Amino acid sequence: MGNNLVFQVSSVSSDTRAKIKGQKPLVLWLTGLSGAGKTTVANAIEVALVERGHHTFLIDGDNVRLGLCRDLAFSDADREENIRRVAEVSRLFVDAGLIVITSFISPFERDRTLARDVIGADAFIEIFIDAPLSECERRDPKGLYVKARKGLIKKFTGIDSVYEAPRAPDIHLNTLEHDVSTLVSRVLAYLDERELA
Ligand code: ADX
Repeated sequence: MGNNLVFQVSSVSSDTRAKIKGQKPLVLWLTGLSGAGKTTVANAIEVALVERGHHTFLIDGDNVRLGLCRDLAFSDADREENIRRVAEVSRLFVDAGLIVITSFISPFERDRTLARDVIGADAFIEIFIDAPLSECERRDPKGLYVKARKGLIKKFTGIDSVYEAPRAPDIHLNTLEHDVSTLVSRVLAYLDERELA
């Protein structure tokens, strides 16, 4: 690489770490508009997995932007860097043997593809948290759509910044038509079918 770095292999392998926890490490990557219900569904998925005895970790957009990514704003380039960091952190947690749930708008297809590449396709499950923009605006849990419509927030996803919906998500959850417990059951059924959790 020309920067005098050599990747160091640890004595305990990621397989061993996962085996001790008795699970297959995964990333459940939630993507969707602000207000679509990502945080709510992510929390409910984590509770359900912990009830099954799994070792989990939840990485939430707003929290990461208050810490690890507090130097980033909402330009396309900053969102790309945000998602790149989250993908790298998720990979570390996968190496630690955990089931990771991420909750980020992650609006750009190329960035989600990069996340899949960084994490590894076998461990990456894309979950589209889908609600129409009109419904997200109606919910407006943080009052941000109102501000965006007034021009007080620029580059707001769905208003003046694009959201590229996944074309072939592994799981497609519609939060307008179904309640949270139904959606969580869908995720668990998916994992069961593939003997993942
Ligand atoms: S992402 O596009 O880079 O994936 P991320 O999920 O980390 O976004 O952060 C989204 C959260 O930041 C939203 O839930 C909202 O609370 C807040 N936010 C502030 N400004 C914007 C904006 N311009 N567009 C979208 N979300 C914003």
